[in-house]
Amino acid sequence: DETKSGVKGLVDAGVATVPLFFHHHVEEAEEAANTSAFSIPVVDLCGARDRAVRDVGRASETYGFFQAVNHGIPVGVLEEMREGARRFYEQEDAEAKKGYYTRDWSRKVQYNSNFDLYSAPAANWRDTLFVVMAPEPPRPEDLPIACRDITIEYSRQVQRLGRVLLGLLSEALGLEANRLEEMGCAEGVAHLLHYYPPCPQPHLTLGVSKHSDSSFLTVLLQDHIGGLQVLHQNKWVDVSPLPGALVINIGDLLQLISNDKLKSVEHRVLANKADEARISVASFFTTHFSPCSRLYGPLEELVSEENPPVYRHTTVKDYVQHYHTKGLDGRSALDHFK
Ligand code: SIN
Ligand code: FE2
Repeated sequence: DETKSGVKGLVDAGVATVPLFFHHHVEEAEEAANTSAFSIPVVDLCGARDRAVRDVGRASETYGFFQAVNHGIPVGVLEEMREGARRFYEQEDAEAKKGYYTRDWSRKVQYNSNFDLYSAPAANWRDTLFVVMAPEPPRPEDLPIACRDITIEYSRQVQRLGRVLLGLLSEALGLEANRLEEMGCAEGVAHLLHYYPPCPQPHLTLGVSKHSDSSFLTVLLQDHIGGLQVLHQNKWVDVSPLPGALVINIGDLLQLISNDKLKSVEHRVLANKADEARISVASFFTTHFSPCSRLYGPLEELVSEENPPVYRHTTVKDYVQHYHTKGLDGRSALDHFK
């Protein structure tokens, strides 16, 4: 029953030291390479189309990450989404929260800490509420009351933004604007409402281990606390909170179908050093929530004799299954599909 209270439960119970189970061995080279010489590009989605296409393309081919401004989602919706997540975690009635606890992947609403608890080398200092909203959302009454209405509204807006981003990325790849959307890259959407409690010994653990995302594309809403870092030229670069912006990153499946042109870049979250919780909401665009037997491989328009396919074809289901079985062990799941 203890695990059902999550990492937040440990903090609420007053743990002063991080249990061994959460200790990470961060490679020294990576730790030492911390730098501020680089910064994650900021892209204005509302400017001229050709400039937005160019900027989205450049950022996605280099950093694999950018911060989108003028993305069309009102700041009030962003704030209410973060507040909804907070209400879920901080509700007085702890039993209500435990009711959503599960490790069953077929469920559309799942609350736990550490999805890869049994495969990863060390646990992470965070809790997660996972909600699948597309192609088939759960019944509204199956969503936690604390964040029900805002999750529905936020999801609607993020799904629209996802289609806009896929259009820009298609053009950046030299494809027809609707190419990626028609391939189903945004048919499925899951939102991960993350809660990173303050950590008493943040240097011993991580909020999230180094990983790349298994999605096609991820849209991330973060708050003012910070801690998200992206690996660039073997150095960790902070994704500094930018009020009103959304962080966009390329996932493994877009790297696979673009034949390595778009980069699914490794990132991590430091354990929270602040004295208040950090909240973020990651929205994963994928297809695997629908029973989809479609095969994905490097797009024929993007391969040639000089540029042969790097990856074999796979279903999204097989890809995600491999990703989950492997757990966040610091290596890319893509290697398995070469
Ligand atoms: C993640 O990449 O898993 C979470 C990112 C974040 O919370 O900032
Ligand atoms: Fe991630």
